[in-house]
Amino acid sequence: MRALSGIQPSGEFHVGNYFGAMKQYIDLQNEDHEGYFFIANYHALTTIRDPQELRRLTRDVAMNFLAFGLDPQRSVLFRQSDVPQVTELTWFLSCVTPMGLLERCHAFKDKVSQGISPDHGLFAYPVLMAADILIYDSNLVPVGQDQKQHVEVTRDIAIKFNEAFGQVLEVPEPYILPQVAVVPGVDGRKMSKSYGNVIPVFETDKAIRKRIMGIVTDSTPVEDPKDPDKCNVFALYRLFADPQETAEMAERYRAGGMGYGEAKKQLAALVLDYFADARAKKRELEADPSYVDDVLQAGGARAREKACEVLQRCRDATGF
Ligand code: ADP
Ligand code: TRP
Repeated sequence: MRALSGIQPSGEFHVGNYFGAMKQYIDLQNEDHEGYFFIANYHALTTIRDPQELRRLTRDVAMNFLAFGLDPQRSVLFRQSDVPQVTELTWFLSCVTPMGLLERCHAFKDKVSQGISPDHGLFAYPVLMAADILIYDSNLVPVGQDQKQHVEVTRDIAIKFNEAFGQVLEVPEPYILPQVAVVPGVDGRKMSKSYGNVIPVFETDKAIRKRIMGIVTDSTPVEDPKDPDKCNVFALYRLFADPQETAEMAERYRAGGMGYGEAKKQLAALVLDYFADARAKKRELEADPSYVDDVLQAGGARAREKACEVLQRCRDATGF
């Protein structure tokens, strides 16, 4: 099966991005799926207006993929913009996409309600995302819960295109792991850079510890029993711990006598240990920019080859 996903280069990489997105990609690669993973820099243009910043963040996302174990021999890692064919497919798809389908998208409605100006690019964002997916004949699209609707829109668009022009496009499936669908942030809402509630992965140890020590909890006294299932610290702890550690921590909550400060310290130790290898690897990559460039060039060439094949099918089917 071909698994495809993209990450926007739009800000600091956090624990929600890791469990909701990156970890699934690497696991799929290691389970022998054919992986196509890219940096969605065309999409980032809907929010970033600083060219230096866009370039810097694009490289940063590439390094994150490699730091977490994306193997460029097994998976195809590329920049979205190295396959400009995807913008041509976007136009083909736009012509079969009902406005109402896009008007219903939560991500668009949320961004407008946050005060981001509703440019056409933001409105048409899901059509470009559909093109990203369909141009590689992708079967599985690993994403967090917030992107599920966009994958459903992609399916609807592919079906509409096929109804109009014959069986040209592969209809993909979303791939969402329920236990990591929504990783909570330090305030208990979905972890998201737009809420300022993230635990960053590549900041200093001190910054990471500080964020964790600031997780919001209730005011149950130290000595009282606590319900692990109602605690943000525990919700995060269980993502990093093995089942035995999780069961032991749950027991300590229920027994009473452990304060939330202690649970947070344990969580911080686990988080720093969990990401130690990836953080070291990222420092190595930062010191070797030409390696990252070579990987992206080679990945772009492989991705373009597949994209040209699918685009040609669409051109043939539509009369070009
Ligand atoms: P943010 O909400 O911080 O802006 P993005 O929208 O850029 O994050 O998300 C990038 C990827 O990470 C997407 O696949 C998304 O589903 C996933 N993701 C982001 N935040 C979370 C979260 N809190 N829980 C699970 N997955 C998440
Ligand atoms: N919209 C996704 C996000 O914000 C990024 C993305 C762009 C994507 N194209 C994609 C994800 C194709 C999966 C498949 O996270």
